Amino acid sequence: MLNQSGAEKLYYQGDLHRLLPACYSCHGPSAVGGGLFPRLAGQQSSYLKEQLIAWKKNERSGDPDNTMGHIASKLKDSEIQALADYLSAIK
Ligand code: HEC
Repeated sequence: MLNQSGAEKLYYQGDLHRLLPACYSCHGPSAVGGGLFPRLAGQQSSYLKEQLIAWKKNERSGDPDNTMGHIASKLKDSEIQALADYLSAIK
């Protein structure tokens, strides 16, 4: 399973090999969000995880270009868990 620093790296750098954009580029430093981009920091880990899984399964939609759907489909379940834990722990 991906550890905390792995999740942080994914958040700030993404993964070029998978054309996975950095979460940071939209959700901002410390995941505080802004404008169209929701705050992720400090939200319940279980909630964040459920949202990403729902996008991955095509069960959540709403953003016009399905941006999060494309992103979530590239994430492994273990990465979703690690990201959710990492983000929920940010104050
Ligand atoms: C290109 C911009 C962009 C990138 C990059 C991006 N997001 Fe998002 N994200 C959005 C937008 C826009 C929404 C709101 C979508 C909606 O509500 O329909 C969102 C919503 C979310 C939500 C739901 C929050 C809530 O309160 O329901 C989570 C969780 C999330 N993103 C996690 C991530 C993670 C983790 C990454 C990196 C792997 C990431 N996002 C990368 C644009 C982005």
